Amino acid sequence: MTDTTVTADSTTHASERPWLDATLPVEERIDLLLAQMTLAEKVGQTHQVANIDPDADAAEIAAGRISSSLYASGPTGGNERDEGVLVGNIDAAQRHAVEGSRLGIPLLFGRDVIHGHRTVGPVPLGIAASFDEGLAEQVGEIAAREAVVDGVAWTFAPMVDLSEEPRWGRVAESLGETPVLSGRLAAGLVRGFQGDDVSDPDRLAACAKHFAGYGLAAGGRDYDTVSVGENTLRNLHLRPFKDAVDAGVTTVMAAFNDVDGIPMHAHEHLIREVLKGEWGFDGMVVADWNGVGQIVNAGVAADLREAAALAIRAGVDLDMCGGAYLAHLGELVESGEVELALVDDAVRRVLRLKFRLGLFERPYAARPGASNAPTPETREVAMRAGQAAHVLVKNDGVLPLDLSSAAAGSLLVSGAFVDDGDALLGTWVLDGRGEDVVTPGEALRERLGDRVTVADGRFSDVTLMQARGAETTVLLLGEHRSRSGEAQSVVDIGLPPGQLEVLRAVAAFGKPLVAVVYTGRPLDLSEVLDLADAVVVVWHPGTEAGNALASVLLGDVEPSGRLPMTFPLTTGHIPTSTHQRPTGRLIRADVDHKEGRYIDALTYPRLPFGFGLSYTTVDYGAPTVSAPTMTTDGSVTLSVTVTNTGERPCREVVQLYFRDPVAQVTRPLVELTDWALVDLDPGQAREVTFDVCAGQTAYAGRDLTTRVDEGEIVLLTGPDAARLQPVSVTVTKKDS
Ligand code: NOJ
Repeated sequence: MTDTTVTADSTTHASERPWLDATLPVEERIDLLLAQMTLAEKVGQTHQVANIDPDADAAEIAAGRISSSLYASGPTGGNERDEGVLVGNIDAAQRHAVEGSRLGIPLLFGRDVIHGHRTVGPVPLGIAASFDEGLAEQVGEIAAREAVVDGVAWTFAPMVDLSEEPRWGRVAESLGETPVLSGRLAAGLVRGFQGDDVSDPDRLAACAKHFAGYGLAAGGRDYDTVSVGENTLRNLHLRPFKDAVDAGVTTVMAAFNDVDGIPMHAHEHLIREVLKGEWGFDGMVVADWNGVGQIVNAGVAADLREAAALAIRAGVDLDMCGGAYLAHLGELVESGEVELALVDDAVRRVLRLKFRLGLFERPYAARPGASNAPTPETREVAMRAGQAAHVLVKNDGVLPLDLSSAAAGSLLVSGAFVDDGDALLGTWVLDGRGEDVVTPGEALRERLGDRVTVADGRFSDVTLMQARGAETTVLLLGEHRSRSGEAQSVVDIGLPPGQLEVLRAVAAFGKPLVAVVYTGRPLDLSEVLDLADAVVVVWHPGTEAGNALASVLLGDVEPSGRLPMTFPLTTGHIPTSTHQRPTGRLIRADVDHKEGRYIDALTYPRLPFGFGLSYTTVDYGAPTVSAPTMTTDGSVTLSVTVTNTGERPCREVVQLYFRDPVAQVTRPLVELTDWALVDLDPGQAREVTFDVCAGQTAYAGRDLTTRVDEGEIVLLTGPDAARLQPVSVTVTKKDS
């Protein structure tokens, strides 16, 4: 690696650019730099563009009118166009900023590196299925190490929007429906992206997005309006953002939606008062793509100028691709409509990030000879993450497949995903390549030779003839990656057209049938669960998709994933989730908890949150607590014995929920608060303990402040949100 450190001579440091003295505290360096900046240069630091063309944009960069680019595209190699996008131009553009501008402030290059860069892990919803923060961290770390080679300094991940809305395509990019799971996995990803110190040249700045309430878009229609009260926001949707902030995330992105009538890019209360004030977030808030300009579309500003004023007051520091700040902030300050202090605060936060990243010391990205192609090490992480995402939701004994003495052609594998690497990468993959993906067809052919027939991927009569001749069929069903993600909402969460017909026809042969479901969202799997003997939900697993599938189907590893979102019975049952709060008119669980409130259907989750099977069976004892009471600042130890009652090992996700029966506001019927990954050998019993603090039951009360109530708390343990055993503990007044 060449040394790309800027070595301005010491006289320049001391006199003209004293902020380059890296021994000074960051805040002092910012003060020194801010003191030198003109209003125009300050405004320039709040402006992000999509692509930078070092030739066409040279003058703008040198004038200090561009702060950042959304698409880092490779440090060197020319200024060529790849499918319309400029690549290989970062360092050339950076040179104009560092050496050509008056103050030499480096550009910041971002990119959507969401669940991998060249080596791709499962979509975030699949990462969430692992319930494994350490694994999330490793996926984030390899993504960072690969992305920096392409000059990326900042990623727009993790997304921590909670949702109970499978119609919304962006749930694929989420970490599930519950605040604690989402918050802890987000913290893992933040640690992975940023490392212990974000100035590490092999790490990236992370971004918790989209602040806030985006997962509540009406009807699951992307970008739609959000009607939610602050109590629900605080008790659910803001919590994973707070966890990400506590984990040190350096940036937060504003959401496209409004919240109860106020566009988030203009939401002074939530951004400036709650995020920056109450939580003490000192990082940078970035707009989403033209989110500032879209305040006009929302009918809350007459023009871009007014939108810019609203957004800067709200606390949006960097204007992504909208140009509103660049065009209007200067004149808004000069006319007295916007206080200079607001612009200074935004610029301070942008500069803080650039200093924290070490960009002033290391502005250039080139690492001659460095490669970020997948390696055995990065593939190993992708493999483990892919395996951990596999959620076995039905097994009538057909899995794991035993093909040790099978004849040629005894297994048929068919479906659109058999050899389509690209389809398995999942949403938001800008740099992963389909040709790097090990497909299910490749992996199973490699493992099984002529014992497997891999069909050509299209369901047809030939598929049926082959299934008739095979002993066992594995159908690869579900959604192509392009059917989930941003702007990919659906009105029907059933399988894409045509797949059920094939499933029905193959099932009619009465031979063992395994359905593997690739998806970015909970689907209506009712008929799949009825017809197939075994069903595995694998999301979009990434680069090692095929190897991960083969290892699970053939029993090299045990399936251990758990559903991070509830699977509703049908589209009409949305929302169905663990967020359900009790109502005044109770549905009597002792009569029929499935009776529900529809006259034409029962109401229960088709597959509950946290659900997932192993190739063995696990028995849960009743939970006990170390003491019947704990003070509001105290804790108890909860113990539960889990026993592997079958003949294979397993990794059990032992889940701990709670219910607060009497509170100031309605509280969820059950809320996940902790879990443990427990490895069990056949026949082995283990006592699993959880330290439960009264603080885990804290919530925002009527006045929206956080409180811990005295009184009964029901703690519940079990294998998923629907199979829980309770034990009560009483929270008492703190000893004075
Ligand atoms: C819009 C998306 O909402 C956001 O998540 C993404 O990071 C930006 N575009 C940048 O691509």
